[in-house]
Amino acid sequence: MKKIVVLGSLNMDFVIRVKEMPQIGETVLGEGVRLVPGGKGANQAYAAGKLGGAVTMLGAVGEDVYGEQLCQNLRSVRVDTKGVRKLENIPTGQAFVSVYDSGDNSIIVIPGANGELNREMIEQEMACIDECDYIVMQMEIPLDVIRFVKEAAIRKGKKVVLDPAPAVAGLEDEFWKGISILKPNETELEILTGKKPKTQEEIKEAARSMVKKGVETVIVTLGEKGCLLVNEEKEEYFPVHKVNIKDTTAAGDSFIAALVVALCEGKTYEEAVAFAQRVSSVVVTRQGAQTSIPWRNEMEKE
Ligand code: RIB
Repeated sequence: MKKIVVLGSLNMDFVIRVKEMPQIGETVLGEGVRLVPGGKGANQAYAAGKLGGAVTMLGAVGEDVYGEQLCQNLRSVRVDTKGVRKLENIPTGQAFVSVYDSGDNSIIVIPGANGELNREMIEQEMACIDECDYIVMQMEIPLDVIRFVKEAAIRKGKKVVLDPAPAVAGLEDEFWKGISILKPNETELEILTGKKPKTQEEIKEAARSMVKKGVETVIVTLGEKGCLLVNEEKEEYFPVHKVNIKDTTAAGDSFIAALVVALCEGKTYEEAVAFAQRVSSVVVTRQGAQTSIPWRNEMEKE
């Protein structure tokens, strides 16, 4: 079986449900706080494990109860967590997630241990990067670590998958060279390209500009409008069925995880995108980050 390494953040999510996003200066009442395992990296590793992938997680947590809970949750779906460092005197990452009645959310992340990851820590985990086929990253960890791992992984012939979230503006052109799959949403694409694409043609044009910079395949997720895949060979739009949205948290994370699991199984891009869309369509009908992710056998029944 092909192997996946996910390098990224692990956060404990503090989730509040509230009717609408408050205006500046406004006070609103929310429902009680729920603690849910999250973090874009951990969500992707958890989803890939639960969907049947062979997954190793690399990252960092604090030596606290949240860090332990997050690792245990990953292990419960057979994710190898030996590469998750437990750091002294720094708390595990935390995310404060407001979920609105529309199912949309806004998130503030306190990086904690995620922000302490460094090159030396990763160098000690190179053996698992050597063994993997796909390395999946997001951007809630230091950028120099992402750069270092991206370059090392490309040199070693690995497929690099990047979820540019949270997106960083003004990255040098060199950064994008050799990335196999880049998965921005519309807002992230706007930040990466510095242009606000409005029509489908403008979104295509913005995705093409990332391909010109050296990304092999760009998949722009468009929420209820589906997604768009652009590479040198094809430009294809994939619509999605409407579902009853409860909470969009981890929709993008589960999309990328399902996509990579399917590609590891030898599926074509069309099949992998279709599977990823089915998984994230289930995720948005449930609450929370890792709590919303389905098992592979649930997907087979869908
Ligand atoms: O993508 C959703 C995730 O973003 C949440 O789980 C939160 O922890 C933040 O990292």
